[in-house]
Amino acid sequence: ALPAPLAGRHVLVTSGPTQEPIDPVRYITNRSSGRQGHAIAAALAALGARVTLVSGPVALPDPPGVGMARIGTAREMLAACEAALPADAAVCAAAVADWRSAGMAPQKLKKVPGQPLPPLELALNPDILATLSAHPRRPRLVVGFAAETENVVANAVAKRQRKGCDWIVANDVSGDVFGGSRNAVHLVTAGGVEDWPDLPKEEVAAKLAARVAETLAGGAEA
Ligand code: C5P
Repeated sequence: ALPAPLAGRHVLVTSGPTQEPIDPVRYITNRSSGRQGHAIAAALAALGARVTLVSGPVALPDPPGVGMARIGTAREMLAACEAALPADAAVCAAAVADWRSAGMAPQKLKKVPGQPLPPLELALNPDILATLSAHPRRPRLVVGFAAETENVVANAVAKRQRKGCDWIVANDVSGDVFGGSRNAVHLVTAGGVEDWPDLPKEEVAAKLAARVAETLAGGAEA
């Protein structure tokens, strides 16, 4: 039998939202079911890769054959990703909260009638995709996602440059992609833009995993 296409490869995948605490009972988060990221982790494992899936809280089963790292905050996600290096490829599908509360309140903030509202000061979270793209131990292939509501491709092309990653998988989230089962994406690479048809998220994952395998096998630049 032929060896599995990703046998001997290690791929890092981020998935799901992050949760940034405001106080012990409240947090800031992003909309993300984790469905696309988890499907990608499963598809890579199915091709024989060793997969580390760094995931925020999701209501999904762990994909079969995948090593899980469960995190809460963006800073924990970055630390788990760096701890997982080296990797041959990284796919950042997580919906990372751009901001966290600047000072986590040690006790629950109280709602006191007649009193001023508690101020919510924000601090910038690390950008995990950009950090991995510029990392001394950068994976050979780094893939990011772009959820856009307008100018999908133009924004994705700019995002690819800004983040320093190799590919961007861009999708239009003006419809009901969040939590849904299907996704129509554009794959933005150095070579140009491919429009993929509207597919179940599992099939988007399988196509992407096959492209990752092809690229790592080719030894060429992504
Ligand atoms: O900047 P924006 O959030 O639109 O970029 C989306 C891409 O960047 C996704 O691949 C997402 O996983 C990644 N990202 C990240 N860390 C952040 C913000 C976004 O890895 N703090």
